[in-house]
Amino acid sequence: MKAIRYYRYGSPDVLEYQDIDMPDVSDNDIPVPAILTFEQAASVPVAAFTALQALRDKGHIQPGHKVLVNGAAGGVGTFAVQIAKALGAEVTGVFSTRNLEMARSIGADHVIDYTREDFARTGQHYDLMVDIAGDRTLRECRRVLAAKGVLVGVGGPDKGHWIGPLRRPVQMVLLSPMVSQTMAPFLARQSRDDLVVLHELLEAGKVIPVSDRAYPLSEAAEAIRYLEEGHARGKTLITA
Ligand SMILES: NC(=O)c1ccc[n+]([C@@H]2O[C@H](COP(=O)([O-])OP(=O)(O)OC[C@H]3O[C@@H](n4cnc5c(N)ncnc54)[C@H](OP(=O)(O)O)[C@@H]3O)[C@@H](O)[C@H]2O)c1
Repeated sequence: MKAIRYYRYGSPDVLEYQDIDMPDVSDNDIPVPAILTFEQAASVPVAAFTALQALRDKGHIQPGHKVLVNGAAGGVGTFAVQIAKALGAEVTGVFSTRNLEMARSIGADHVIDYTREDFARTGQHYDLMVDIAGDRTLRECRRVLAAKGVLVGVGGPDKGHWIGPLRRPVQMVLLSPMVSQTMAPFLARQSRDDLVVLHELLEAGKVIPVSDRAYPLSEAAEAIRYLEEGHARGKTLITA
């Protein structure tokens, strides 16, 4: 079987075809939900695992919690908004103007347009903030958290190839014991049990994958260029 390999810190122009072993699905035989296309189904792992685990395992989300999702329009964010809603939270998403309609369509209760309003200055307080954009300081994020609120750090600008991406998680670990709020850096993991949870949410129509673009395999480099601009809407698909 051939796969495309992209070296994250290379250029999309040096994508490689590589022979890989056909994945063994015998331990992982969860069917594609009937209401999804194969392309939609392929967009679920990683982004939806990330959203589910960030909300549930790190964020300890509870029904009625006020949740802020910063960076809500992308692959992880569109799943995070929908999963938080499915888990009974009141969800505010941070979007840009062009995505406000989509924000409502995926069920966000409140939207903040980051091109016009600063979420750190609305005076609102949240039980949980899932920070996917990672574009603000920890101090600014803490300002919108309730006294016992949780900040889950999912993503952010890489700022360098090696130590750069570790800076924020390290800051969070060091700060957490000194403040009343919980600072929780986070790394998603693959989990069959979570795939079952997601399967149920998808099958029930409570979570619907969002995607605005599909590229044929021959244009994979274009797809990665688009992603790296940092403004994808939902998941970007590559089709066979
Ligand atoms: N911790 C983990 O295990 C884990 C797992 C997966 C991904 N990640 C990380 O999570 C981050 C996002 O991943 P993704 O796949 O969701 O990215 P993505 O699909 O490329 O989406 C990025 C989104 O961020 C929005 N955005 C850009 N600037 C923003 C700002 N200033 N404020 C609010 N939203 C902004 C964009 O929306 P607009 O077009 O509206 O600007 C875009 O939709 C990346 O850093 C990735 O590495 C972490």
